[in-house]
Amino acid sequence: MEHFLIFIFLPYVLSQCPSMDVVTPACECLPVALTVSHYLSVQCNKTGELKREDILCCNTNSSNQDSIEAQDIFKLITVGSQLTKFDFKLLENMTNLQILNLSRSGIRQVDWDNCQLGNLRELDLSHNEIENTTKDFFICNGNIKKIGLHGNMWMCELFLWFIDWVRDAEDNGIEILHKEDIFCYVKKKQDTEPAEMGLDYVVNTCPRNCSCRTISNDRVILQVNCSGRMWWDFPEQVPSQTRILYLENNKIQSFYRFRNGTNYRNVSAVHLDNNQIASLAELEGIKPTYRFATLSLSGNRLTHVSSYIMDQLKCAFKLGGNPWNCNCKYGTTLRTFIIDQMKRIDDINNITCASTDEHYPNKIVSELSQIDLCDPEEDVFNILDLVNGILTTLIIVVLAKVIYDWWHFKHTGQLPLGPIAIIQLWKNKRLRLNSMDA
Ligand SMILES: *[C@@H]1O[C@H](CO)[C@@H](O)[C@H](O)[C@H]1NC(C)=O
Ligand SMILES: *[C@@H]1O[C@H](CO)[C@@H](O)[C@H](O)[C@H]1NC(C)=O
Ligand SMILES: *[C@@H]1O[C@H](CO)[C@@H](O)[C@H](O)[C@H]1NC(C)=O
Ligand SMILES: *[C@@H]1O[C@H](CO)[C@@H](O)[C@H](O)[C@H]1NC(C)=O
Ligand SMILES: *[C@@H]1O[C@H](CO)[C@@H](O)[C@H](O)[C@H]1NC(C)=O
Ligand SMILES: *[C@@H]1O[C@H](CO)[C@@H](O)[C@H](O)[C@H]1NC(C)=O
Ligand SMILES: *[C@@H]1O[C@H](CO)[C@@H](O)[C@H](O)[C@H]1NC(C)=O
Ligand SMILES: *[C@@H]1O[C@H](CO)[C@@H](O)[C@H](O)[C@H]1NC(C)=O
Ligand SMILES: *[C@@H]1O[C@H](CO)[C@@H](O)[C@H](O)[C@H]1NC(C)=O
Ligand SMILES: *[C@@H]1O[C@H](CO)[C@@H](O)[C@H](O)[C@H]1NC(C)=O
Repeated sequence: MEHFLIFIFLPYVLSQCPSMDVVTPACECLPVALTVSHYLSVQCNKTGELKREDILCCNTNSSNQDSIEAQDIFKLITVGSQLTKFDFKLLENMTNLQILNLSRSGIRQVDWDNCQLGNLRELDLSHNEIENTTKDFFICNGNIKKIGLHGNMWMCELFLWFIDWVRDAEDNGIEILHKEDIFCYVKKKQDTEPAEMGLDYVVNTCPRNCSCRTISNDRVILQVNCSGRMWWDFPEQVPSQTRILYLENNKIQSFYRFRNGTNYRNVSAVHLDNNQIASLAELEGIKPTYRFATLSLSGNRLTHVSSYIMDQLKCAFKLGGNPWNCNCKYGTTLRTFIIDQMKRIDDINNITCASTDEHYPNKIVSELSQIDLCDPEEDVFNILDLVNGILTTLIIVVLAKVIYDWWHFKHTGQLPLGPIAIIQLWKNKRLRLNSMDA
């Protein structure tokens, strides 16, 4: 019923603009330039809802008070208005609109529905109070070349597509006005002042090929996702608000950049599943300022852990799918760590000995006993160790003797009495005693 009424009465209303004597028009229009008099620049100053009639009845100087044609509008400016809301439906059929300046118009909400402005080149939304916008925004901006977004109250939750959009936009030669003045906000539950985050900063620090998005409504914290983008190392830098970092399915081998890179100190969860990490040695001595809560390392190349390093990392782990070495020494360390720190390990049943392991291929490490790990075969090694030890001791004794002899010879010009000489002396003594007895 409602639609029916609009359909009947709208054309009538549009062609009969109110008389100038009755009402001050909300909008005025002027030819854009004398040479293209067909195109009009419409300037509106309205408090409250801007209506389509307001725009189309801009022709105040016209004698017959008829509305103008939607296609004639080239430029629409609402600067100085108090509109609260701007609905792009208003612009239906304004196919020649190229410049839309909604700056400083008190706008809180923008509805992009039905926005089809194929010729729009400039869109200025700056200095309003806009919090929300949706992806429908893109539909409007097929040919946009210049855009003003600064001076609004963008909510940080929407930063994800903002950042991606800004990058694509810049790659496509779109000019973003005063990018350094674009901030997003989170409303802190306690504080009255909202916390803000600069778009420019995040765009500049969010690593290329990664997506950075906010993950909290009341704190400026970011999740950075660089999964599956052929990273050979950690990015040199992440935004300082980064708390969760996804680097799964890459080719990372070392933690060097994690320790040396910028802004990794406050990262609390690192997901490194399916990389090429073979050692955690570079995490040794990690400072307590690293606020690790989670380190996910499944599907890497780890063969053993150092209990010393694992104790320093006071975080939860995922360690499954690594080629763990289940020999007596490494297997025992790993098993002890797993059993002692069960609560910190999220995938105990996935932690298995390597498929190529000599003794227990693919066996779940936590299910092996200490005796399984250090079976009697290992004793052979212990005996060999013992033999080695004895041989080493002997070599040291012989060397010491040689050095002593050399020293003695140097000081006395004589070799010290060797064992044979001593035996000889003793025998001589016995002989002498025997002869005395005889
Ligand atoms: C209105 O029309 C009159 C006469 O046609 C003209 O002199 C005047 O400049 C016009 N004013 C505007 C603002 O266009
Ligand atoms: C808009 O109108 C208001 C009052 O109606 C006035 O105070 C303000 O200066 C006007 N703004 C512009 C840009 O003309
Ligand atoms: C826009 O143009 C279409 C087709 O000419 C017409 O049906 C429709 O009513 C127009 N919309 C407005 C709001 O005038
Ligand atoms: C929009 O209008 C304001 C005020 O006149 C001006 O400062 C701003 O530059 C305009 N925006 C664009 C994109 O030209
Ligand atoms: C912003 O979006 C949220 C969720 O879509 C909605 O609840 C809220 O009312 C919107 N705020 C404004 C100002 O449009
Ligand atoms: C980003 O991705 C592109 C295409 O996949 C690739 O060529 C480029 O090397 C990547 N850059 C980085 C820093 O990983
Ligand atoms: C990270 O990005 C990858 C690839 O774009 C996607 O498959 C994955 O779901 C994302 N992870 C998260 C936690 O958003
Ligand atoms: C970190 O890397 C930079 C170069 O990328 C190097 O100059 C610096 O010495 C490194 N710092 C440490 C502590 O390794
Ligand atoms: C880490 O967090 C602390 C406290 O919130 C802050 O002072 C420091 O600047 C942060 N460091 C980085 C690199 O963001
Ligand atoms: C264990 O590994 C299987 C197969 O790779 C996987 O589907 C499962 O999610 C893993 N479990 C945990 C707790 O990570």
